[in-house]
Amino acid sequence: MTLPWFNMVIFAQHCKRFTVIRTLSTAPKINKFPVDIELLGQKYPTDDWTNLTPKIVSALGKNLHTMQYHPLSHVRQRIVNYFYKSFVNRIGNPIFSVHDNISPIVTVTQNFDSLMIPKDHVSRNKSDCYYVNQDILLRAHTTAHQSELISMGLNNFLVIGDVYRRDEIDATHYPIFHQADAVRLCTSEEVFQNVKNSNDLKLFEHRGHESSEKQGCHSLEAVKIMEHELKTVLIGLVKAIFGKEIKYQWVDQYFPFTHPSWELEVFYNDKWVEVLGCGIMRQEILQKSGASDRIGWAFGLGLERLAMCLYNIPDIRLFWSTDSGFLKQFEVNDPDTPIIYKPVSIYPQCCNDMSFWIPQHTNFTPTDFYDLVREIGGDTVEQITLIDQFVHPKTKKVSHCYRIVYRHMERTLTQKEVNNIHEKIADIATQNLNVVIR
Ligand code: PHE
Repeated sequence: MTLPWFNMVIFAQHCKRFTVIRTLSTAPKINKFPVDIELLGQKYPTDDWTNLTPKIVSALGKNLHTMQYHPLSHVRQRIVNYFYKSFVNRIGNPIFSVHDNISPIVTVTQNFDSLMIPKDHVSRNKSDCYYVNQDILLRAHTTAHQSELISMGLNNFLVIGDVYRRDEIDATHYPIFHQADAVRLCTSEEVFQNVKNSNDLKLFEHRGHESSEKQGCHSLEAVKIMEHELKTVLIGLVKAIFGKEIKYQWVDQYFPFTHPSWELEVFYNDKWVEVLGCGIMRQEILQKSGASDRIGWAFGLGLERLAMCLYNIPDIRLFWSTDSGFLKQFEVNDPDTPIIYKPVSIYPQCCNDMSFWIPQHTNFTPTDFYDLVREIGGDTVEQITLIDQFVHPKTKKVSHCYRIVYRHMERTLTQKEVNNIHEKIADIATQNLNVVIR
């Protein structure tokens, strides 16, 4: 069982869009929610899978990726412009359609099943996703929409939007971020259009075997042409964003919905940074969506990653800043304008540790605690690290020690203020997670 989140007292105070108020229940806690939650103007039943938090709910509909002058919106526009320019039909019109306003509330079928993600895959865990109920969740990737858009008859499209993952807390991880996904499906004529005497070439082969290079049903020649186009397009994209000099490398990857699959890394600030995942789409996905005569490639990338590199933004929380000191620096009409973010000033960090015994016979996971810390500390929390774990030799009880780094983005925090937040975290963790503070 995960968190009895909805039993929290603070719930009612923090939550604007949730109209539900629950009272504290007595132990043993049962996660039964006999009520509906309203999200983006629609009601959804809750159940014991529900693990949304008020903070996450309040971020729904913010749509930073379409907010005028927001750095994520500039990056979105640059990606869209690149696709508009790179893929045109005979009369010069762009062939990629752009979908940046699809609701992030999706079904388990959309997010996982339609993409052949195995039933027992870790990415489905309650500790990794925000579930509205057992059938509905906040999308964990924009890939969730690919099957449906293909079923609607689209062959070339981009999906851009907010995605939600329960995750660790540090300068580069935030439970909400933004992705751009693309799909391109091609017919046999399109794939072989530049090959002379291509009449004998086929997209598919019967009784073929899957290898590291291709799926069983695909011909090697079709896959190699698609792979070449995919990689050329993506290198063009990172060059259009980071400049011609950018150093990059391809790394083999695994995704349940593509094969073969790769990751593209760029060399930035003396490190290799992974910027996107891509591959040749699993043919079963095309078959189920009514596009069995085509072959497709797809990729997905994180907008924050790109924007942090591009503008030198040091902390992912800054994207949520409403401070004019941040936003003003991006007030340009041309998304190609070079901008280097200048920190208004750097405020000091405050470090506090917290140790507790975790309750026995429950599925406590660190993400339960991270969510709670976010909920109470808000964006004053820069980082949480599990710095020590230990099992009591006699009682077998497990103790975790977390280091919480507090730093406000826009002002100095006092130690007293930090202590108050820290104590509140300890209190609520005791009440809601049944931990015992040491
Ligand atoms: N959805 C993948 C992710 O979030 C990215 C991806 C998209 C990979 C499409 C391959 C094809 O990591």
